[in-house]
Amino acid sequence: MKNTIMISALLFAFMISFGGSALGSDTKPLPPNVDMKTGAISVPEDYTLWPTLGTWSHAKVVGAGGAVNIHEYHVVYTQPETIAYYKKKGRFPDGAVLVKELLHAETMSMSTGPAVGHATTLKAFFVLVRDTEGRFKDSPLWGDGWGWSFFEPKDLTKTTSKDYKVDCIPCHVPAKDLAPRNAKKDDKWIYTLGYPVLQKK
Ligand code: HEC
Repeated sequence: MKNTIMISALLFAFMISFGGSALGSDTKPLPPNVDMKTGAISVPEDYTLWPTLGTWSHAKVVGAGGAVNIHEYHVVYTQPETIAYYKKKGRFPDGAVLVKELLHAETMSMSTGPAVGHATTLKAFFVLVRDTEGRFKDSPLWGDGWGWSFFEPKDLTKTTSKDYKVDCIPCHVPAKDLAPRNAKKDDKWIYTLGYPVLQKK
């Protein structure tokens, strides 16, 4: 009798842990800027301490002579471990966070050149979170391997994005043709050509 109780208890414990781990694969936590209950994304608090993945500068023609000014910078940050992982395996890990800052910029003549741009104030933020497990199937801000959200500087915890398929995807389609041919399907949404730090040395 004692043995039967023991065995049933063990069996029960086994079922719980087995069931638990099967469930756990769905609920494996993402970084703290994701609310694991709702899938709501915020701008990570500490992202300015992360390495810069790359920078994009936006120029526009000013004046009649065709002179060009830098008027905006896009600076992309990610966790150090994401860079290390990508360099080794050639893909983004589950939980990779990419933060793109949009910054206003000014251009002036400096001792280094006639048209030198520098960033001034923050304009907006775009955040992507890599999800290799297909979490948050009901959320219109998760899909195609990523969580997608846009933020204005006045609130870094609440996105104004409604549907990534409308707000983000159309503009990221061209990235597919620019991506390395052997890149993973969902990594092809990323404009990796602008991030030489990801290349193996
Ligand atoms: C107007 C077109 C456009 C829209 C809309 C857009 N993106 Fe992008 N995104 C780009 C381009 C082009 C780049 C790289 C060059 C740049 O920033 O100028 C980029 C880069 C990024 C990056 C840096 C990683 C990468 O792919 O290179 C993030 C993060 C990002 N976008 C997130 C988003 C999210 C989230 C949305 C929707 C809320 C979104 N984007 C909507 C065009 C767009």
